[in-house]
Amino acid sequence: MSGVVEPRVEVLLDPDRAGASLVDDVRRGLGGRPRRLPPKWLYDDEGSRLFDEITRLPEYYPTEAERAILAEHAADIAAACDASTLVELGSGTSDKTRTLLDAFRDPARPGGVLRRFVPVDVSDATLREAAVSLSRRYPGLAVEAVVGDFTLHLGQLPRGDRRLVAFLGSTIGNFYLEERAAFLGALADSLEPGEWLLLGTDLVKSADRLVAAYDDEGRLTERFIRNCLTVLNRELGADFDPGAFSYAPLWDARMQRVDMRLRAEEAQHVSVPGAGLELDLAAGEELHVEISTKFTRDGIRAELADAGFEVTDTWSDLAGDFALTLARRL
Ligand code: SAH
Ligand code: AVI
Repeated sequence: MSGVVEPRVEVLLDPDRAGASLVDDVRRGLGGRPRRLPPKWLYDDEGSRLFDEITRLPEYYPTEAERAILAEHAADIAAACDASTLVELGSGTSDKTRTLLDAFRDPARPGGVLRRFVPVDVSDATLREAAVSLSRRYPGLAVEAVVGDFTLHLGQLPRGDRRLVAFLGSTIGNFYLEERAAFLGALADSLEPGEWLLLGTDLVKSADRLVAAYDDEGRLTERFIRNCLTVLNRELGADFDPGAFSYAPLWDARMQRVDMRLRAEEAQHVSVPGAGLELDLAAGEELHVEISTKFTRDGIRAELADAGFEVTDTWSDLAGDFALTLARRL
C-alpha cells in the first residue's frame, strides 16, 4: 500500500572478474614505470567510508560547491532536458543527487516526472545502501542499481526511454588525459543522439587551495590514499608496510592536476604474490595512486565537442569554484 518498491540490483562485476582485473591492473600498473594504480581500487568499504568523511572536511570544498549549484539550479536542469531516466555514474552515496531527484520528481516538471533512477558504482555495499534509501524516499521511482565499472560497462546500462547521465563530484578528473578522452568517446557511443550528460567538474584555482583540499590537517586524505596498500595486502597477499611511505600531494600546473603519490621512505622489497610481482623500490621511489585534474569552462566545452557532445548550459557556484555542465549527444 505504501507504494515503496524494493530497488533492483544488477551485478555486472562478477567477483572472479573483479579479482582478475585487480591482478591485471596491478601487474600492468605497479610493474610499469611510473608505478601506478587505477583509483577504482581505493573504494573498498573502508575507502568509500573515508571518501564520505573527506566530503565533509572544511578544506575539501568541491562537494559543498557542487551541492550549492544543485540547490540553486536543479529545477533549471530538470526543465532543460527531457530525460525520464537518470543514470548516475560513480554514484557512491548519491547524497547530492537527492536535490536533483527532488526536482526531476516534481509533478510540475515540464515533460513529466522522472520514472527511473540507475545508480552505477563499483562499491557494492555503498551502492546497495543508497539504492534502498532512495527507493524509500521516492515511492513510485524505479531504482535499478548497477554494480559495475564505468570504464567497462557503459554499453550494458539500461536503455529504453530518454536518459540523462550524471557524472558528478569531478570524478572525471581522476582519469589521466588519454583515459578521459576514451571514456567520453565510449560514453557518447553508448548514448543515442538527443540523450543528455550532466558533468560536474572542479575548476582551476589557486595552488594553495587545491593542495589544501588534498592535504587536510586531520590527514584523512592521506589515510584514503594509503588505504590502497591495505587493499593490495588483503586482496593479493602483498606485504606493503603503509607506514614506510610518505604522502605529499603536489599541484602540477602544466597538467592542471593534483598528483597524489606515496613515496618509499627507504629502499624496500615488497612481494605481491597474488599478482606474481616482486618489487624492489628505491628510496624516494613513488607510487602514483591518484590524480585529480582541474578544468576550465573552455576546456570542458572543447573536450565534450571532441567526443560528440554539444554544451547547452553551464552553471557555477558564486565563488566560481566548480561547474555543472549540461550537454546533449549530437
Ligand atoms: N558521485 C559521488 C561520489 C564520488 S567518489 C560524489 O560526487 O560525491 C567516486 C565514486 O566513483 C566512488 O563511489 C567509487 O566507488 C566510484 N568509482 C570509482 N571508479 C569507478 C569505476 N571504474 N566504475 C564505477 N564506479 C567507480
Ligand atoms: C572522487 N574524486 C573526484 C575525488 C577527487 O577530489 O579527486 C577523490 C579524492 N581523492 C582525494 N580526495 C578526494
